[in-house]
Amino acid sequence: MSEYHRIVILTGAGISAESGIDTFRSAGGLWEQHRVEDVATPEGFARNPDLVLNFYDMRRAALANVAPNPAHMALARLEREFPRKPGRELLLVTQNVDDLHERGGSARVLHMHGALKSALCSTCETRAPWLGTMIDRPPCPVCQSRSLRPDVVWFGEMPYQMGRIYQALETCDLFVSIGTSGAVYPAAGFVQEARANGAHTLELNLEPSEGSRLFHETRLGPASVVVPEWVEEVLAG
Ligand code: OAD
Repeated sequence: MSEYHRIVILTGAGISAESGIDTFRSAGGLWEQHRVEDVATPEGFARNPDLVLNFYDMRRAALANVAPNPAHMALARLEREFPRKPGRELLLVTQNVDDLHERGGSARVLHMHGALKSALCSTCETRAPWLGTMIDRPPCPVCQSRSLRPDVVWFGEMPYQMGRIYQALETCDLFVSIGTSGAVYPAAGFVQEARANGAHTLELNLEPSEGSRLFHETRLGPASVVVPEWVEEVLAG
């Protein structure tokens, strides 16, 4: 494998599937169990806040029953070891709202779709770590108003830190997409952005995704197998 210096990694629900978290678009996945417009849009929240707060309270609580898998741990190892040689940089961007990258040992994770263990105050826009429930309308730790919502990016809202992500995509020499269907923009467009800027593009997924043809290279298999194999290769290179 060629030696790369600036790597951007994008992860999606597939990396957490073997940890026991449902993906969105598989048979029986989250979007078969719930209507997107009910639980993942500002309009759904305005219509029925209890339904939405309860949905995210349950997902937050369910994190206690899952653990990171070898794919999360391999990426944490890459974060520790890859930048040891001068001139090397790594950015890990996830669409996932779970905390399995952090629990697998990654220290710097960019959660572009927000995080279950974070609250966003609709009044003062504070974002604060949150482990409890929201259905009981707890006060915002800063302004005390009882208008907290999950700090999760819903459809129609702008993902976090897009400027920083695009900057990294402009200068990376390797873009790797792991366990994502390529169905949701802007993340689905990262491969084209990186490719247009001259990066090699690699997809690691269980099956060919909607965007597979956009990548230079696709490796198929469960994340717990293909991710550690790839990390081993990069660190040996
Ligand atoms: P999806 O459910 O759309 O796609 C998950 C992908 O992971 C699929 O391509 C599966 O084939 C693959 N997969 C499943 N199990 C795997 C495994 N063990 N190893 C490797 N790959 C596996 O989830 P995302 O692409 O993450 O956004 O969805 C993107 C966004 O859509 C989410 O962040 C969420 C959702 O609506 C918002 O809620 C804003």
